[in-house]
Amino acid sequence: MQPLLSILQQFREHSPRTELPSVPEVLALLRLQGDDCAKLYAAADKLRQRTVGDAVHVRGILEFSNYCANDCGYCGIRRSGGVTRYRMAPDEIVTQAIQARTWGCNTVVLQSGADPWYTVERLCSIVRAIRLAGVPAVTLSVGVRTAAELRQFAAAGCDRYLLRFETSNRRLFRQIHPDETFARRVQCLEDLRSARIQVGSGFMIGLPDASLATLARDILFASRLDLDMIGCGPFLAHPDTPLGGKPQLEDREIYFKTMAILRLLNPRAHIPATTAFDALDPNGRNRVLQCGANVFMPNVTPGKYRRLYQLYPNKPCVDEDGAACACCVRGRIAGLGRRIADGPGHSLRSQSRAKTARR
Ligand code: 5AD
Ligand code: FES
Repeated sequence: MQPLLSILQQFREHSPRTELPSVPEVLALLRLQGDDCAKLYAAADKLRQRTVGDAVHVRGILEFSNYCANDCGYCGIRRSGGVTRYRMAPDEIVTQAIQARTWGCNTVVLQSGADPWYTVERLCSIVRAIRLAGVPAVTLSVGVRTAAELRQFAAAGCDRYLLRFETSNRRLFRQIHPDETFARRVQCLEDLRSARIQVGSGFMIGLPDASLATLARDILFASRLDLDMIGCGPFLAHPDTPLGGKPQLEDREIYFKTMAILRLLNPRAHIPATTAFDALDPNGRNRVLQCGANVFMPNVTPGKYRRLYQLYPNKPCVDEDGAACACCVRGRIAGLGRRIADGPGHSLRSQSRAKTARR
């Protein structure tokens, strides 16, 4: 398997826009065991070090509303779920974002359900206020919006946007998303690009009824999108959803192998160690940082709201506050022998695009 690994990593590093491996080749990597699996992790870690370096970008995630107009089959804040709803006031969001900066978060990620109360005007004034207060970068993660809205976000100072495609299997997508279409989500990713916002997307690993071949296709689909950031995490069955009670993947290493393969196929992308990995395994995020990831997203949501934003069960840090999470993150990163990145942490992809535009 070693030759396949090295071919993959060198090929993509030098010509990222060309050839990707085939589905059977990705499947072969997903099936690696024992020593071969360790070699896969080591290759991804080494490549990460060479391309994006040892510094870890710290982005504070602020979950500002758990209202959601959608009823996705897996999500703990879906419309028909029984959770108590909250919305943070615009002032409270801005204050918390500024606070997060003092805790060492150079980017603040504003995330909510699909909540129409936050109109484009409201969101733009929040983003503008946060940027004016000196927070180096703002990411929005507020669901599918129109191309016109995305352009307004960009003009207000929104640097990045997260919108996962969740699965590239159209039939499965339809089953678990009664309110949305796959085509519309992918269109939104293209509209983000046109609006010159850095694009983050990804999928859930191990959705019920997703075969290993679907996972291989998800990896390839994400890689073909040529993303600034690839955010993926394990699917975790939430008991109050239609997918409640569905099991985790038997081979737990598949979650980590997926992340390592994503790094090998996307040498220059930002790849976060997402929170759901800690719900899977207390050391989960650390392990992902050691098999390709270079971003950590501490939760900076005020403590009183945290229990109400559980997209999946067993979410870590629900009894902590932002300062505690930020402090814990610093310890974890230092413990891995890594350092925290300075600056806004824009993607390498967007930086080379800016250079080309200046020429
Ligand atoms: N398990 C894992 N991830 C989930 N998400 C939502 N619900 C779950 C769940 N039960 C993820 C989705 C969404 C992101 C914000 O959280 O991928 O895009
Ligand atoms: Fe809220 Fe899916 S349940 S976007």
